[in-house]
Amino acid sequence: MCGIVAYLGDKDAFPVLIKGLKRLEYRGYDSAGIALIEEGDINLYKCKGKVSDLEDHIGGKSVRGTVGIGHTRWATHGEPNDINAHPHTSESGNLAIIHNGIIENYASLKEELTQRGHTFKSDTDTEVLIHLIEDIQEREGVKLGEAVRIALNGVIGAYAIVVIDKDRPKRLIAAKKSSPLVIGIGEDDFYLASDATPIIEYTKNVVYLNDEEIAILDLDKGLKLVNIANQEKTPYIQELELKLEALEKGGYEHFMLKEIHEQPRSIADCLRGRINSLQGRVQLGGIKDYEDKIAKANRVIMVACGTSWHAGLVGEYLFEDLARVPVEVEYASEFRYRNPIITENDVVIAISQSGETADTLAAIKMAKERGATIIGICNVVGSTISRETHGGSYTHAGPEIGVASTKAFTAQVTVLTLMALSIAKKKGVIEESRFRRLLIELENIPSKVEEVLKINSQVEFIADIYKDANNALYLGRGLNFPVALEGALKLKEISYIHAEGYPAAEMKHGPIALIDEAMPVFVIATKDASYEKIVSNIQEVKARKGKIIAIVTEGDETVKGIADHTIEIPETDDSLVPLLATIPFQLLSYHIAVMRGCNVDQPRNLAKSVTVE
Ligand code: M6R
Repeated sequence: MCGIVAYLGDKDAFPVLIKGLKRLEYRGYDSAGIALIEEGDINLYKCKGKVSDLEDHIGGKSVRGTVGIGHTRWATHGEPNDINAHPHTSESGNLAIIHNGIIENYASLKEELTQRGHTFKSDTDTEVLIHLIEDIQEREGVKLGEAVRIALNGVIGAYAIVVIDKDRPKRLIAAKKSSPLVIGIGEDDFYLASDATPIIEYTKNVVYLNDEEIAILDLDKGLKLVNIANQEKTPYIQELELKLEALEKGGYEHFMLKEIHEQPRSIADCLRGRINSLQGRVQLGGIKDYEDKIAKANRVIMVACGTSWHAGLVGEYLFEDLARVPVEVEYASEFRYRNPIITENDVVIAISQSGETADTLAAIKMAKERGATIIGICNVVGSTISRETHGGSYTHAGPEIGVASTKAFTAQVTVLTLMALSIAKKKGVIEESRFRRLLIELENIPSKVEEVLKINSQVEFIADIYKDANNALYLGRGLNFPVALEGALKLKEISYIHAEGYPAAEMKHGPIALIDEAMPVFVIATKDASYEKIVSNIQEVKARKGKIIAIVTEGDETVKGIADHTIEIPETDDSLVPLLATIPFQLLSYHIAVMRGCNVDQPRNLAKSVTVE
């Protein structure tokens, strides 16, 4: 993870860097730092903690300079402290670097450099890299860009780096492999960052660096791209579509709350132009050329992590039920190390909000090498996963800043529903009446989500009752089992309450032993095919004095008579219930976390985009 930002131009770099780091803080917040070149010196400011701690640390000191680099860290090598905070400097102190990624062979490189007299201040792999670059510069008598290139040829691992040289204040060198880096091209200046959010207010023209590309940015000579094999590359300048307002809280106390409330719009955006119930049409342009392949696939393998993996589980039910395509859902991190059997008749669907998750990326690279067709479902436009796939569909949920994924999940489920329907239609395995009914229901989902959001104050009331629980159980069956998993994950990650999601029928095989009067059990008990069964599961919990908080279909009286609390959601087709049932759980976790005084948008130890394996 980590967020990096840099500026080269004639403006004051400090405000650009600080603002940029605040936008990138979702990527990590263990420490923050900046380095600026001022009158032939590199001035370094860094400390443990958040960007606001860095601002306090700098206090009233003068921070001038029109070239600078900044970093917000999610610790990998070395504990989060002032010394391990980036930027790091070379042996002479002439060079400074920021880095997002991991240098896997840093120990052997460090050993060699130590033997040549280098001394290190930090425990980081990044400091080793900047020492190596300077060492090469001196030994080979080459310019900085060439030294970076030679150094990167000897590096194993992932990197997005920016290097500055105090003697060359009009130049920056940047490079990337497996960690993202975007270059903003201003009128007379350059902006670099891990994503486009720190750049958008200055320029819309950007270049996404490809793996193993090195950018030499010079205020007099402009941008030059080479790859690590020293072949010159032509920069491909794209126009950003991102809007600045999407990056602000818009009056909400937290990004998470804003993003929960954005779901009627984000689901509508995801559906826009893709379905038409009157014409009985579903159309996903990005997978058109691969639909036949999916329809005839030996199997579809969904690979993802965290919340995206839960969306994959919902997708499995939908693909198998509607499109009759066999599906396996894999944790990307397990799949890639298992030496799985993959053939050319397999289709791998990678699901990722950020499109940068290292495990998911590695899994699709491996599957691609083995001949599978790779489809992506990503939210971030232009992200690495979306560029590594053969085809795919964006979720169009807009930027998700809160570390806990909310609107990205419902958008992923929406895309998976559209894909399943499209394949079902192509294969002719869905009755026309069901197909049309589902299209109508899908079109109604945004307004039904709007309805669900009205229960916010009721959920807040329930949150107050259970905010001090030490444990919680989430139960669901069928399509709602992944919703239970997602509800438990949301509670764990932002309120630090231990929670487990279980298929409701599995409860009697073990977790039932946990139930006593202190255990809140959150159950999805909507009127679907397994309603009667789940009512029995609720009775089993009540018989052991557990507290039941049930999500039920509007008008349900049976569960109301048994449960401690019920939360009503509008009726919809069984296949679409996850899109509604997940929302009360998002709100519940949010309110509990706020009541417990937790940092909702930046929970401890986490980062939004996990770009380490
Ligand atoms: O960007 P991705 O969807 O690939 O991220 C996957 C997980 O890291 C992510 O869903 C994580 O579990 C979230 N914190 C969940 O809220």
